[in-house]
Amino acid sequence: MNFKNDVYRNVFKMPAVLYFRKKQMDNIKKYIEQNKERFLNELFNLLRIPSVSAQKDNKETMYRAATNVKDVFISSGCAQARVMDTEGWPVVYGEKIINPELPTVLVYGHYDVQPPEPLEEWTSHPFKPVIRDDKIYGRGADDDKGQLFMQIKAFEYMVKDNKLPCNVKFLVEGEEEISSPSLKKFCIENKKMLEADVILVSDTTMLSLAEPTITTGLRGIAYFELTITGPNRDLHSGLYGGVVNNPANVLATIIASLKDADGCILIPGFYDNVVELSEEERELLNRVSFNEVQFANNIKVKKLHVERGYTVLEGIGIRPTLDVNGIWGGYTGQGAKTIMPSRASAKISMRLVPNQDPEKIKNIFNSYLQKVVPDSVTYQLTPLHGGNPYVISYDTREMRSAVAAIEKVFGKRPLPVRSGGSIPVVADFEEVLGIKTVLMGFGLDTDAIHSPNENFPLQNFYKGIESIAWFYYYYNAD
Ligand code: BES
Ligand code: MN
Ligand code: MN
Repeated sequence: MNFKNDVYRNVFKMPAVLYFRKKQMDNIKKYIEQNKERFLNELFNLLRIPSVSAQKDNKETMYRAATNVKDVFISSGCAQARVMDTEGWPVVYGEKIINPELPTVLVYGHYDVQPPEPLEEWTSHPFKPVIRDDKIYGRGADDDKGQLFMQIKAFEYMVKDNKLPCNVKFLVEGEEEISSPSLKKFCIENKKMLEADVILVSDTTMLSLAEPTITTGLRGIAYFELTITGPNRDLHSGLYGGVVNNPANVLATIIASLKDADGCILIPGFYDNVVELSEEERELLNRVSFNEVQFANNIKVKKLHVERGYTVLEGIGIRPTLDVNGIWGGYTGQGAKTIMPSRASAKISMRLVPNQDPEKIKNIFNSYLQKVVPDSVTYQLTPLHGGNPYVISYDTREMRSAVAAIEKVFGKRPLPVRSGGSIPVVADFEEVLGIKTVLMGFGLDTDAIHSPNENFPLQNFYKGIESIAWFYYYYNAD
């Protein structure tokens, strides 16, 4: 690649030579204004497709969503686009190569969404998108169909206005919400096709429109299902109670032993590889004026519960977690039933930080269970998801381009924040393709992703499109 890594271009000291092109970019606002109805119509067509990756019988819908994305790629300016099969749900690839000598930006996103349940908690139907209070409501409005659309429409503007300063490739998958089980292999098999200088992703949040932030890290994840089994059938709790160990009680005891009251995780070795941040790094991360009271109020929590010695932003961004995501067993219907269950289960997940490894975490968790599960029952530990954590330095060429773009549009330089969420494939991109990812997301915590009434404010949508266009400009502005 003819990429002038040696010529360090500091975007904060914009040379005069850029001034001419800078003025040329100024019609982006007008372009959005003139085309926003169409942008929303196109996005709504995609939002109407219930592409829930977690459900196995969704083949028709998943292919319909993938095909929709492919068609939008073509109508938005890609010279080529195709739906490509994987072992799981299909991947959509699109590209516009203007000159192989120029740098290439690979845009990643996902067309799959989380299940919409519980349906009765939605004000409007999850797959019948509407605009209410200047927000788009619907499953995927933010995560990630809305954010992906900002990428496509910023690209469309750059192409239509003949301003694209680099090559663009799109990789959009349908398995992100189930931790991308096929994408790593897809990357290994399509390394050449995916060659690029930087990966650009809009699938994260910022603090607010007034306080823009940029994501410098994602947590990894290790997700398990744990089942404790006792007798071969549910038993009469009077006839057997007192002499048979109850799997639900055992499960509860084990879960209770995983964490102390201060939020410290007690599995031996759990913190072994956790990177502690320097005072300097912590200072930078805590510079963001994060409103803890409002954060708690929004979710109607009386008091936040943070690991001893850490701030809320650190608790979300740089510390690992362990949470029960679901727990069941025995009788949960109306009234009482005097039984002792045959088995009890829980979904338990851990969010990981650098340099924890989901494989190692699985092993130490399993060793711990071997030690603590009494021999009056048996256990089964099934790993469901795994993903590595990711970090990018705030002070790199590609991050500076993103920071300059957001500053240009929001009027304020975005501060770095480590996100608590996970996009497992981002670490795989670095490992397999050797490419760093810039996480330029425009969602808000209040968008309720994965929850009922997911939404995306129109302001974020438009400002996101504008910022991404400026990213291209700053990324190769000479
Ligand atoms: N877009 C989210 C991740 C995200 C959201 C990162 C907000 C940062 C800020 C992504 O679609 C997601 O939900 N990921 C899952 C991954 C899991 C299924 C392995 C997650 O974080 O739970
Ligand atoms: Mn997402
Ligand atoms: Mn998601």
